[in-house]
Amino acid sequence: MRHLITLDDLSNFEIEQIFRLADQMRVDLATWSGFCQGKLLATLFYEPSTRTRLSFESAMERLSGRTLGFTDPHSASVAKGETIADTARMVTNYADLIVVRHGCAGAARVMARYASVPVINGGDGSHTHPTQALTDMYTVIRRKQKVQGITVGICGDLRYGRAAHSFALVIARFGGTLIHIAPDAFQMPDWVVSRMKHLYGQEPLEADQLTDVIKELDVIYVNRLQAERLPRDINVEVGRARYLLNADVMRNAKSDAMIMHPLPRVNELSFELDEDPRAAYFEQSANAIPTRMALIASLTGLEELVLTQPPTREISVGDHLCDNPNCVANYERYLEPEIETLGGQQITATCAYCGAT
Ligand code: NCD
Repeated sequence: MRHLITLDDLSNFEIEQIFRLADQMRVDLATWSGFCQGKLLATLFYEPSTRTRLSFESAMERLSGRTLGFTDPHSASVAKGETIADTARMVTNYADLIVVRHGCAGAARVMARYASVPVINGGDGSHTHPTQALTDMYTVIRRKQKVQGITVGICGDLRYGRAAHSFALVIARFGGTLIHIAPDAFQMPDWVVSRMKHLYGQEPLEADQLTDVIKELDVIYVNRLQAERLPRDINVEVGRARYLLNADVMRNAKSDAMIMHPLPRVNELSFELDEDPRAAYFEQSANAIPTRMALIASLTGLEELVLTQPPTREISVGDHLCDNPNCVANYERYLEPEIETLGGQQITATCAYCGAT
């Protein structure tokens, strides 16, 4: 049985296989429509969601499966203090597959540990959002045919934006060049940059203003400020104007650049760009359906055809608790600390739940 907790759970070959399957499903839905007949997908959303939950439900129902779950944790036993481990032990009896979104980094990993059905991470705190990155990379490949050699600028709140983390890591892994565009307080966290260096040999560039680098970018990936995750001492107005994407800024961009955004947008991406042929963000949310259908099918029946080359990771028991306040290991007290060792030129140890270095 396989889970998708971060994209490190899939090898490059397996990601490409999922995309091949997504292509087939997109053009020939009828052939696949009965694939999940009789199966149930549990959607456990401890945090708000529109696209992720609805597209998972739509994907499951298009495969003739059914869904159950909650969208308000206050209506579930977590409000009474139930642990993630116990919720996993229950839901595992009620469904064939679980998608979980949670406010703590590493929560989906804990769910997977205690569930005996596949678990998909639908976003864990300010850590990762692997299925968003699959959809995003699929969208890039559909427009650009490749990731290798393209220049991707990721701008906005890179510190707390989990979609930005997963997208940056997968682009680095497939050979794209990254430019991280944000004011200092919102720059990419060390754990992401460290993985890029140790796992993929990439030294991403940093820029302070979008206008300084716009001409170089093949993909401009915009993120909203993650207002719900910001520490109280951060000034939210800092640098907002520096990464606002509007028609004026896009005048200097390449004619075939792609504008991406995981959505929802707030005020960082102007509505006037919606008719610009370079806008790819609604396409991105549409691509969530074939990619999530392909992922569901890969985890619930097609493992032996699609997920045939699992990656290896070095994970062992650690000797102290993680110091990331968002890490699940600091809330679910029955967990033992675990560390992942990243190879490469210099060995680095990171928290296996939240990735913190
Ligand atoms: C993202 C998320 O939840 O991290 N949304 C999504 O799933 N499409 C991005 C965001 O909320 O900013």
